[in-house]
Order: sequence, then C-alpha cells, then structure tokens
Amino acid sequence: MPVRIAPSLLAADFTRLGDEVRAVAAAGADWLHLDIMDGHFVPNISFGPALIRALRPLTPIPFDVHLMIAPVDPYLEAFAAAGANHIALHPEAGPHLHRSLQSIAALGCKAGVVLNPATPVDSVLTVLDVTDLICVMTVNPGFGGQAFLPSQMAKLAALRRAIDASGREIALQVDGGITAQTAPLAIAAGADVLVAGTAVFGKPDYAAAIAALRPSG
Ligand code: DX5
Ligand code: ZN
Repeated sequence: MPVRIAPSLLAADFTRLGDEVRAVAAAGADWLHLDIMDGHFVPNISFGPALIRALRPLTPIPFDVHLMIAPVDPYLEAFAAAGANHIALHPEAGPHLHRSLQSIAALGCKAGVVLNPATPVDSVLTVLDVTDLICVMTVNPGFGGQAFLPSQMAKLAALRRAIDASGREIALQVDGGITAQTAPLAIAAGADVLVAGTAVFGKPDYAAAIAALRPSG
C-alpha cells in the first residue's frame, strides 16, 4: 500500500476553510483529516458535524474524522450523516469499544481506533476483526504543532506486525508532529497513512509540502 497523506484541517486558515479544503485536495492530499475536540476529552475545542457537512461538497477525497470527544457513541450518527468516510475514536471515550466500531460500520463508514501515547497496543488487538484503521498518536491529542514522540515507534512496529498477521486490510496511521524529518521514522516503523497539520497548512506550497512527506520526497 503506498503511503497516503492526510492533511489535518486544524492547522488551516479558519477564515478561509472552503478555499483551504479545495487547495489541499488539488495539491494531492489523499484524505482530509478532521479533528473533533470537545474541551472535555481533550483540553481544546475545534468544530463539529455542521462544518463537515458544509465542506463535504467541495471535494470527493475521503473525510477522515478523528473524534476526541466523550461520550462518543451519541455522536457517531451525526458525523456519518455529515459526510464522514472514516470515523476513528479513542478506546477511553466510551464503555464498549467493539460495539462502537460495529455502530460505525453499520453507518456505512470505515471504523478506526486511536491510541494515545499512554494507551497500550493491546486495547486494539482484541477488536481487529471490526477495525479498518488504527491511528497511533505521536503527540498527546488536543493541539497541532506539538513535538513528535519517537517513543511511539515501537508501538507502530508492533501494530504493523499484528495487522500483517491478521490478513485484514487495516490502515496504520500516525498522527502528531509529522514533518519531512519525522515522516521517514514513522514509515520505517510501518505507518501507511501520515496525518500532517502544520507541516502542510503551515507551508506556502501545499503540493510541495505533501510531496516532501512521501517516501520519495
Ligand atoms: C492532535 C490532532 C492532530 C493534529 C496534528 O490532537 O489529532 O491531527 O492536528 O497536527 P500537527 O501535524 O501539527 O502535529
Ligand atoms: Zn487527529
């Protein structure tokens, strides 16, 4: 599977979000990563399903929704209806992870599990049968522009082995502090989707910024 780049809209210019989405899609973004924060599960508030619904007609690229909200279950349907293609949640955000993943699939979306730096690999290994995407956080969630945590590379490598052994098609994503310098570390450890906020939207040339994160970049 070639490495896919998922720019995070959190780092975009919020006064021009529609233009930003069109520009990053035209620049070669494979997915658009949408960070949903509630000021409770994480110490920051971002945006909700109404924004996703408004942006949905602007591009056909998959909308990769990262929910940092608790409780998470009551909101799955709203994000699916707003146009999410992937919905990823943290195991700590609800009481029954397997059921939440089943609910996402029933809504017609790919189901993802996001592991915080302190969350062990084991929390997803028991639900691989209902998981389409695993995201390894390489920062503590809540803010863009934080420093990459190399301590998470062993976790990525362990998940790469588990995914390959499972025989299932599961995307292995890394989120937080991805730059042209850290991307090769994540790719070497087995990541095949890179989320990048400031490393794309913080640069003047989005196409060059995206290309710089790819293995050949
Ligand atoms: C953090 C978010 C990330 C964030 C990444 O809670 O999950 O997606 O936007 O931003 P950068 O790439 O700037 O670290
Ligand atoms: Zn994210």
